[in-house]
Amino acid sequence: MGFSEEWEERYQENTQMSRWPWSDLVSLVMRYARPDKKNFRVLELGCGIGANIPLFDSLGVDYYSVEGSPTAVKRMHQQYPHLKNNISLGDFTLSLPDGEFDLIVDRASLTSNNEQSIRNSLRNCYTQLVEGGKFVGVDWYSTKYSDYQNGEQAEDCWTRTNFTDGYFARAGRVHFSDKGHLLDLFNNFKIVTMEHKSYKRVLPDDGWELASWNFVAEK
Ligand SMILES: C[S@@+](CC[C@H](N)C(=O)[O-])C[C@H]1O[C@@H](n2cnc3c(N)ncnc32)[C@H](O)[C@@H]1O
Repeated sequence: MGFSEEWEERYQENTQMSRWPWSDLVSLVMRYARPDKKNFRVLELGCGIGANIPLFDSLGVDYYSVEGSPTAVKRMHQQYPHLKNNISLGDFTLSLPDGEFDLIVDRASLTSNNEQSIRNSLRNCYTQLVEGGKFVGVDWYSTKYSDYQNGEQAEDCWTRTNFTDGYFARAGRVHFSDKGHLLDLFNNFKIVTMEHKSYKRVLPDDGWELASWNFVAEK
């Protein structure tokens, strides 16, 4: 039920190639979860093709990731040989690398999974965060996103699939949240900050609106 094979197909076709650190992630990490000690352990759920790795490399942390696409993992091993043992191929909704983490980040990765898998993964994240450790979530899609009306319902009312056009076309499952759902998913965490971001396309005036959540949760 976890990893969507569509991601592997997109990496094989070179059609999902975001290579720059996501600015919202940089801001939230530096403001709320700045690494402050030696051997600070960071886990990224789904590194993709590594857009956020240069940030963590420059911060000198011990970076780990679990990624489900063999193509993406192979590329990351070639590009970052020093992370060969830290970036593993697997389904992060099933298990995480051993040990405790000071920080777990997720930019638009858990949102490719259904509610049950997300709950599983968050239970594991909570267990493996140190006391006071942070979970930084970026670009968790909002139910106000106009595409929440498109595609077909998957296993639960928050997860949609089979989008035929737009940004989510051939992206497999996409999970959307409203405030209540996010608070429920993170009910054993303390929410430090939660922000809702939206952009509305004006021209062409086609009703398209991007809306997503950024947040920081603490154990
Ligand atoms: C939108 S990309 C984000 C990549 C990266 N976090 C970034 O910000 O550029 C989502 C990634 O999560 C991975 N992914 C989604 N669900 C997964 C799962 N259950 N286990 C492992 N990887 C998963 C996909 O293969 C994809 O690389």
